[in-house]
Amino acid sequence: MELTPRLKTIGDSIEKCDVIADVGSDHAYLPIYLINNGKADKVIATDINVGPAEISRKRIKRFRLEDRIEVRVGDGLKVLDNDEADVIIIAGMGGLLIQSILSESLEVAKSADKIILQPMRDSRLLIKWLLDNSFSILEGKIVKEKDKYYEVIWCCYDEKSRNDVNEINEVYYYNNTFLLHEYIDKKIVQYTRIIEQMKASNIVDGEARMKECIKELNDYKEAKKWLSLNVER
Ligand SMILES: C[S@@+](CC[C@H](N)C(=O)[O-])C[C@H]1O[C@@H](n2cnc3c(N)ncnc32)[C@H](O)[C@@H]1O
Repeated sequence: MELTPRLKTIGDSIEKCDVIADVGSDHAYLPIYLINNGKADKVIATDINVGPAEISRKRIKRFRLEDRIEVRVGDGLKVLDNDEADVIIIAGMGGLLIQSILSESLEVAKSADKIILQPMRDSRLLIKWLLDNSFSILEGKIVKEKDKYYEVIWCCYDEKSRNDVNEINEVYYYNNTFLLHEYIDKKIVQYTRIIEQMKASNIVDGEARMKECIKELNDYKEAKKWLSLNVER
């Protein structure tokens, strides 16, 4: 079974371990891939909804992996014990939902060797929360799938780490690659367009949003300049 680049990037990044938890697994594609590629002895596939969990169970049965992949229904990390999973994956959800899943079961999150996050939005707020709560960002990557860009963040709890940064731009935490530059260019085009549209439509009460967009635009422009000077690619 081939995975899409987004999930494959996550799966391939994992070194062999005992137990991986895929939180909000939905279709169980990733757990099946992880077992078939020898990444873990056991995978726990969780979902808050019964429907996706049932679909996962059927797919797991079809692959005859019932003894290696356990499906649990429940909210976030609440279905896991401390120290139960070496690696925790939370992918395909909003950054604020991921943040609340982590904060509601902080001890479980702290006990994992590695946490892999793939926020669909609000990655900046999620990174800020991680740093404020003593999680170290190990790596960040942009992955492209057709014309969509996805952000993947690898982190772990580190009691010694502390955050004294107030202003956070997510792109500084990502590998300096061509894809990151493409992603920033897209953001610059996006915010330029939004600002032009707001100016043209003269929206009442739009001043705060306008200021926000101008700040975002300038932040991405500044990041682009900085990353261009510190080329890795
Ligand atoms: C868009 S799917 C992502 C599926 C898969 N992780 C991926 O990246 O392709 C989000 C899944 O997360 C589940 N979900 C949402 N909130 C959750 C929570 N608090 N705990 C566990 N699962 C949750 C949803 O039911 C849904 O199946």
